[in-house]
Amino acid sequence: MLKLSQSSYWQELQALALTHGETHLRDLFAEDAGRFQNYSLRVQNILFDYSKNCLTDEVMEALFGLAGDMDLQGAIERMYRGAKINTTEGRAVLHTALRNRSNAPVFVDEINVMEQINQELANMRQFVDKVRSGEWLGYSGKRITDVVNIGIGGSNLGPKMVTQALSAYADNNIRVHFISNVDGVEVAEVLRPLNPEQVLFVVASKTFTTSETMTNAQTARNWLMASAFDERAVKNHFVAVSTNVEAVAEFGIDTEHMFTMWDWVGGRYSIWSAIGLPIALYLGFDQFEDLLTGAHDMDRHFRDQPMASNAPVILALVGIWNSLLHGAQCQVILPYDQPLKSFTAYIQQADMESNGKHVDQTGNRVSYPTAPVVWGQLGIDGQHAFYQLLHQGNVIVPADFIGSVESSTPVRGHHENLMANFFAQTEALMNGIGAGQVREQLQAQGLDDKQIEDLLPHKVHEGNRPSNTLLLDRVDPRTLGALIALYEHKIFSQGVIWDICSFDQWGVELGKTLAQGILAEINGHSTNAHDSSTNGLIDYFKSQRS
Ligand code: F6P
Repeated sequence: MLKLSQSSYWQELQALALTHGETHLRDLFAEDAGRFQNYSLRVQNILFDYSKNCLTDEVMEALFGLAGDMDLQGAIERMYRGAKINTTEGRAVLHTALRNRSNAPVFVDEINVMEQINQELANMRQFVDKVRSGEWLGYSGKRITDVVNIGIGGSNLGPKMVTQALSAYADNNIRVHFISNVDGVEVAEVLRPLNPEQVLFVVASKTFTTSETMTNAQTARNWLMASAFDERAVKNHFVAVSTNVEAVAEFGIDTEHMFTMWDWVGGRYSIWSAIGLPIALYLGFDQFEDLLTGAHDMDRHFRDQPMASNAPVILALVGIWNSLLHGAQCQVILPYDQPLKSFTAYIQQADMESNGKHVDQTGNRVSYPTAPVVWGQLGIDGQHAFYQLLHQGNVIVPADFIGSVESSTPVRGHHENLMANFFAQTEALMNGIGAGQVREQLQAQGLDDKQIEDLLPHKVHEGNRPSNTLLLDRVDPRTLGALIALYEHKIFSQGVIWDICSFDQWGVELGKTLAQGILAEINGHSTNAHDSSTNGLIDYFKSQRS
């Protein structure tokens, strides 16, 4: 396989980026009445419009050529077939198998993992049905009303995002809560209003060693004991999701009440495994299966569709093009759908933890930007916060706008208002408003020539700011599953093209290790083993504590 810099398409794209430096999106739309039709496609209840990016057929051809040179199709096959593409950890990467509704066998080390997956799904269903039906009781004989997920990163963001996104589909049988932060404020806030007799804790940690999660789980256990005064209550109120049987048992959770996952499930791709248990408890298992089905539909699309009509591949290529053309190192994700309020945070981990790497697969420093800084929040709130910079700032930030044709909770007049803003923003970013038009507006307001010339540069919007629009039919389990998988495969495709290992996360380890040593210093003697700033800060913190 070629190195990226050896691909003639990569060189062609760099040349095209120079040629297109002056091209304005406005002109591309004026030249081609069919631009929207040509640069949009519909996949699994999602309309994907990428026409508001500075692309031409020539650019698209070169991007597809680049994906071919980097053997994207081969890499997709290797992932789906269970090859150990997480090269630095020697692991397969099989979140696609977790939602493989076709049940076609998938082998890792000659074992068909579909058997294990199906067994675990059956265990989950049985447990979920017991809890939701009231058959599973707390230590005092009362039914479970509240599920508290204790986990962080991939063991928190996905279940939290999805339960928020699909709350319109919940029957209020069970409430869900999330504790991720080791800041005691969170555990106190979540637990204070709850009745320990009716709470089920799901301790979710692939490794079962993550210190934030273990600290929170221990506090939750103490909280339960303060009410139950009986160790046996742990059995009724704690279940675990992990790969680490010994640690789960040592914590005191009955391993019969442990749901497993496997080393080929990455934390940030684990929502489809038993890490999704809070989703199933909240919505019922059938709805969880719909989420899996939606993702599986997208998996089939990604594997089978030719590149020119392959949504995740195009989304990835558009991102790569924008980083070349505009030097864009940011990507803002802007949901215009209240249920998707945590979607950006979820994709932020998936993207930045996967592709935030500076060396290629062979360990050489790369000469091109890799993962963008992914950020954002609900678009409508962002309009009144940071959109000024998106429209007139001195940096180009490619934007993904995500909205729905139907609101999951229709309230008269609201959705139309929301979506009017949604469409207006992508138009404004693309078109901008030129000096001529601004001048006319100011003249119509009766300003004199001097006033107009003074104001003009402040009011001109250059436009030409790229965006994608993803318009869902509605946020339902199946569509949400497809949307998440769309982004997962985008991230995968970019990692393949940038020739990086998207499935490790060594960059988060260093801080974790240092924190362990510093915790010992906070609780005991300072070692002064750090630089003067870190030593000084630790000493100051200790000396100021009452
Ligand atoms: O932040 C690093 C990380 O390893 C993530 O990849 C993972 O989602 C998170 O920590 C939680 O890990 P665990 O599930 O093992 O507690």
